[in-house]
Amino acid sequence: MASSMASISLHPTARFSALSSGPPPSSIPTVPLLNLLKNPSSLRPLILSHLSTHGYFLLTYPKSTSSSPASSPASSPASSPASSQLLSAVRACVSSLSRLFTPPSPSWPPSSCAVSAGAVYFSEKDVPMYKLGRDDGTGGLPGNDPDRVREYYRVASADVSLCQSFPPEPADGPSDGPSAEAQIERALGLCRYIADRLLAVALGVPLKRRPGSKPASFMSEEPRPAKRDGDFSLLYAMNYYNAPECLEWAREEGMYGSCERRPLLVLKEHVDPSLFVLEPVISERVGGLEVFDEASRLWVAVDGDRSPAHARIREREGEGGGGMVCFVGKAFADRFNEGRGERGEAEIRATRHRCVAPREEQVGVCRRAVIFEQKYIEYM
Ligand SMILES: [Fe+2]
Repeated sequence: MASSMASISLHPTARFSALSSGPPPSSIPTVPLLNLLKNPSSLRPLILSHLSTHGYFLLTYPKSTSSSPASSPASSPASSPASSQLLSAVRACVSSLSRLFTPPSPSWPPSSCAVSAGAVYFSEKDVPMYKLGRDDGTGGLPGNDPDRVREYYRVASADVSLCQSFPPEPADGPSDGPSAEAQIERALGLCRYIADRLLAVALGVPLKRRPGSKPASFMSEEPRPAKRDGDFSLLYAMNYYNAPECLEWAREEGMYGSCERRPLLVLKEHVDPSLFVLEPVISERVGGLEVFDEASRLWVAVDGDRSPAHARIREREGEGGGGMVCFVGKAFADRFNEGRGERGEAEIRATRHRCVAPREEQVGVCRRAVIFEQKYIEYM
């Protein structure tokens, strides 16, 4: 009893109170991001063990101590960037992602400008989607109920250059630095590079080579836009309103978790259709994303100032260290598991995840999140 109590904490809340439980931070699986970037093949046993045992892991990295500029480019495709350069580039990308996508309507109800879409492209299922632009969940169709809990932008990895409506400036105002488009291209390049390494390592196969897959795609301040055939990967930037009206709507819809403490949800439990999925910026402010830990059979809070994920990152990397959460979707599980059951080998499940409503004292505080979903046509 004492050991189980150690992993339970009671948040001092009322209406949206939550008895938060989950595995202790020390049991949350981690992988050093720098090792993945520099010597990925050595990590195969660790990555597969984490995915089959837990279903997710944190990619952690230390506080950057380098004074070298973040813009140091990978001068040639064959060059091997130093750890300090890689870390600086990672931090620059994460910083861009955390400042970009200032929503035009951060609170509920959203402004009447509704969908301000960029060009339309077609998903891997031939569904028309906005390449970038605010989407309220109606698909732009009059009469459809809007998504009551969030708005989101999506950036197609295959062709960022065709986007027509980038958010004009970072949240902290105009700067003399790279354009918003260049920052998105670069941050997308980082997510793509990480996810590509994970996929190649986990499947043990070389990936199809596409433009924009080299370190220069995230180490250069102005990476060359990449047009990528067969790449249906997406970067989602989401704003969860967390307004009382939205949470009331979720309550009326009966959006509660099905296991243990049954918290109010703003996004129901589900698995993604993708290969690898990253949350490259873990929110320090408001809770939201939770992943299901297959080892403990408990939900693990990723976002939020009190989350076990943040505690684990501090434990592993110290104050100032960083981390991303990484998990897998159905396309990866299907491909990885081919023939494994018959051979008696461990299989990997698509990762269950969900978003919970904020603690009562944080109701009304919006949560902005970025998710990268890897999708290649040859695996879908
Ligand atoms: Fe999802």
